[in-house]
Amino acid sequence: MRADATTRIYRGTPRNLAFLAGRLRRGDLVGVPTETVYGLAADATDAQACGRIFAAKRRPRSDPLIVHIATRADLSRVAVPNAAAEALARKFWPGPLTLILPKTGLIPDAATADQPSVAVRLPAHPLFRRLIALTGRPLAAPSANPFGYVSPTTAEHVRQSLGSRIRHILDGGPARIGLESTIVDLRDPLRPVLLRPGAITRAALAAALGRPVALPRRGTKPPSHPTDDADCGGGAIGQIAPGQGRRHYSPATPVTLHRRITARQIAAGSADEAWLLLARPPRPVAANVVWLDPRGDLRGAARTLFARLRELDRRGFRRIHAERAPVRAGGLADALNDRLERAAARD
Ligand code: TXA
Ligand code: MG
Repeated sequence: MRADATTRIYRGTPRNLAFLAGRLRRGDLVGVPTETVYGLAADATDAQACGRIFAAKRRPRSDPLIVHIATRADLSRVAVPNAAAEALARKFWPGPLTLILPKTGLIPDAATADQPSVAVRLPAHPLFRRLIALTGRPLAAPSANPFGYVSPTTAEHVRQSLGSRIRHILDGGPARIGLESTIVDLRDPLRPVLLRPGAITRAALAAALGRPVALPRRGTKPPSHPTDDADCGGGAIGQIAPGQGRRHYSPATPVTLHRRITARQIAAGSADEAWLLLARPPRPVAANVVWLDPRGDLRGAARTLFARLRELDRRGFRRIHAERAPVRAGGLADALNDRLERAAARD
């Protein structure tokens, strides 16, 4: 067990898991590993405990949480499923996919920011699933970062950015995927809408559903969603998914995106600017040049993106120049570029 003044990082031993489940049942917060990013978990059925998540993250109360369950059978405890949800759950759960559905009375309004819908996910990380099962309650967990900052992909990231505000973090190793889950709105099963791209692609969802998956209409604000939420939903897609405000997942250092970064560009730049490449360059480079994956593999890149952004932020560069993923690469390119664009957005 590693500890600083107030925060402990726990290994996933049976004893530690039982202890942390007890803390969750009593309304405490626990930092938890998932295969996407680390989450900040609380009992989703306890309005007060959910309130603590918003306070610790400094998250606007109008930005609803994701509710995590341990088995597919638990879906109908927290949400009202439809055939589309059942098809996607069968195909992609446990995994990096979150479904928006009408909620049941078990989930308090505090968890869903007063919305009649709930975001539900069955995560694949074995330790987190065991913890949910041991707690015996669904667990609400947003990403375990201060609101608006880059999501954490290790227990140490959680300690660094929330350590003074939470006491318990379960260490499940570095996140295997590294980008937040795909979110699909299934409130109307005949018109699924992709709210956030992730490792489960829009094409894969469409194939599983046998119908196209729409993108959110830009600038629209569905009447069922709150409207008093300028700082988190003021971006291009309004309040559809409040955390989808354009400036999100942002490092403090300004980020500029490039379709490709060349050796000549780097040579013309100054040493106080950082260059974040997709792949390792062929020749040795200065310390202000870093890359996401040695071979430019997008899965490797997704796994390291947030850690690299945090590292470059800490090193105090004047600007980070980052290279986009080639769209023709498919797969994770959409999700990676979405996070890069949010990191680069200034509003
Ligand atoms: O991979 C993930 O999804 C991680 C791990 C911890 O599971 N969680 C995560 O949570 O990324 P968070 O809170 O950082 O992002 C959840 C997004 C937010 O943008 C939120 O606004 C949206 O889901 N959301 C939650 N409930 C919603 C609802 N009822 N309708 C529309 N959007 C919703
Ligand atoms: Mg988040």
